[in-house]
Amino acid sequence: MYNSKIIGLGHYVPDNIITNKDLSEMLDTSDKWIQSRTGIKERRWVTKESGDTAATMGVKAANIAIEKSGLTKDDIDFIIFATMTPDYYFPGCGVQVQNELGIKDIGALDVRNQCSGFIYALSVADKFIKTGTYKNILVIGAELHSGGLDKTSRGRDVSVIFGDGAGALILSRTDENKGILSTHLHSDGKHAKELAVVGPSPRHGIGNDNHWIKSVQDKPEETFYFPYMNGKSVFKHAVFRFSDVITEGLVANKLKPNDVDLFIPHQANLRISEFVQRQFDFKDNQVFNNIQKYGNTTAASIVIALSEAFDQGKIKDNNIIVLASFGSGYTWGSIIIKW
Ligand code: ACO
Repeated sequence: MYNSKIIGLGHYVPDNIITNKDLSEMLDTSDKWIQSRTGIKERRWVTKESGDTAATMGVKAANIAIEKSGLTKDDIDFIIFATMTPDYYFPGCGVQVQNELGIKDIGALDVRNQCSGFIYALSVADKFIKTGTYKNILVIGAELHSGGLDKTSRGRDVSVIFGDGAGALILSRTDENKGILSTHLHSDGKHAKELAVVGPSPRHGIGNDNHWIKSVQDKPEETFYFPYMNGKSVFKHAVFRFSDVITEGLVANKLKPNDVDLFIPHQANLRISEFVQRQFDFKDNQVFNNIQKYGNTTAASIVIALSEAFDQGKIKDNNIIVLASFGSGYTWGSIIIKW
């Protein structure tokens, strides 16, 4: 077995800043409501003119990660792309990245695990590296939420939360005795309908009987293409699943909370992150949050935060880094890293 190590990180967010005040001019909400419930002050939403999509933002982040890794694109031998907002229903964004970067005909895999997408993607990459299948894997998380939100007052409980952006990293084989120490993945599909976009699916196609969705979500048919969230259920499950899976990772590596140098949670909601922080008694300098600036960027949030934390000098050699997520599915997971 080999070890796997992150050797390059990059992120890209659109220039276009949407503040809570901007949102309050679009729909019935307020800066006070959004900040007190979620901690979010602003988010980035792509403009039409930019031409940005999940795939193109992923490419921009990937180019930075490749450059910082010291490799060239031709050293990459596999791509994993996590997103819940792909450019097409099919094919996935991974093949678009492969084409845009012009990297020979390597494999490209898309991961659809929403807020846990990046944890799942990095876990898969880790196994491919550790088993010797590949040497350098490009792992991307990217989301273009703004095109798919209900930006009327009807959708305000969801639309104020989400932002656009992308992050990427290069995971490589290493002989050093460090890198990803362990990964922990879980799901409980009985909550699939509590946080979902049910519309674009052959099962619920035009002319089909959509009674099932109406009975479950009690929503009018024209909203099926927008994300639905049972906020109270998400909050309740998130706080204990985050805690369980972080504990699982710490126990597997015989670590205590005060051994953790930096905890980077999926940026779901600042209230959720703060709740988890209190459960482990983490000090403020042990936790990295940037949801205040970017909102919830789902599969991109952890890798954008990891890239920013690294750029800010908050991650040093031999640090213990804990990544954890919870999201739609429900799915949840953690990754423990010795940097
Ligand atoms: N602006 C103003 N008022 C709003 C907004 C908004 N954007 N959205 C909802 N409201 C109103 C509601 O209509 C309701 O009004 P009413 O009392 O007149 O009916 C009122 O605010 C309170 O609604 P609640 O649903 O009771 O609000 P709650 O305090 O539960 O907060 C929230 C809602 C923020 C969604 C909360 O449940 C929560 O934090 N859940 C976690 C969900 C989350 O963070 N998801 C992140 C994305 S998923 C993921 O990444 C895992």
